[in-house]
Amino acid sequence: MLGRMEWLNRLVTRRYRQPHFQQARGRVLDVACGTATNARYVPDATEYVGIDVSVDMLEQAAANVDWLTRGETLREMDAQNLDFEDDSFDTVISSLSTCTFPDPVAALSEMGRVCAPDGQILLLEHGRSSVGSIARFQDWRADAHFEKHSCRWNQEPLDVVVESPLTVVESSSALLGIITAIEARPE
Ligand SMILES: C[S@@+](CC[C@H](N)C(=O)[O-])C[C@H]1O[C@@H](n2cnc3c(N)ncnc32)[C@H](O)[C@@H]1O
Repeated sequence: MLGRMEWLNRLVTRRYRQPHFQQARGRVLDVACGTATNARYVPDATEYVGIDVSVDMLEQAAANVDWLTRGETLREMDAQNLDFEDDSFDTVISSLSTCTFPDPVAALSEMGRVCAPDGQILLLEHGRSSVGSIARFQDWRADAHFEKHSCRWNQEPLDVVVESPLTVVESSSALLGIITAIEARPE
């Protein structure tokens, strides 16, 4: 049976993940990989490493990447304290994650630290809609949504990246401003 995130991916996020994460190259780190949905969207020629704090998610991720033959690595790890050397990845990707990290700026700093100086950081996030009535609904339900899903759904992803040490190269939004695709570099 398909889980909630897989339905969400099929109905909504797949069309944004595909073009964004196709830009990945070399050794790729997927931070807060969840069930490793992104593994199917990065090019075959890359090496995929996924980390997540949830063992349950990683078990589902292992089943999901089983059919891929790139030798994916999955590890239990906190995004805010990555157990990797500086500059050890060519591309760092992360999706639908900054809304859940207790300290998103710390997690983005870590993404910058482990990314090579000439590497790229590709984020696909959701946040506060640019449509007033939807944004007001998100604001009104923000506490209840966080309590149920541990997700700050009215957070502005671009604001969080700007607050971090990363440098935004390009960003675009879609789906009534709810989805934001961001390309950044380490500093
Ligand atoms: C909404 S899910 C997104 C999963 C996946 N990136 C995707 O796009 O389908 C958020 C994920 O963040 C993970 N997460 C939350 N806090 C984390 C942390 N501090 N370190 C690593 N992963 C974390 C959760 O376990 C969950 O898998």
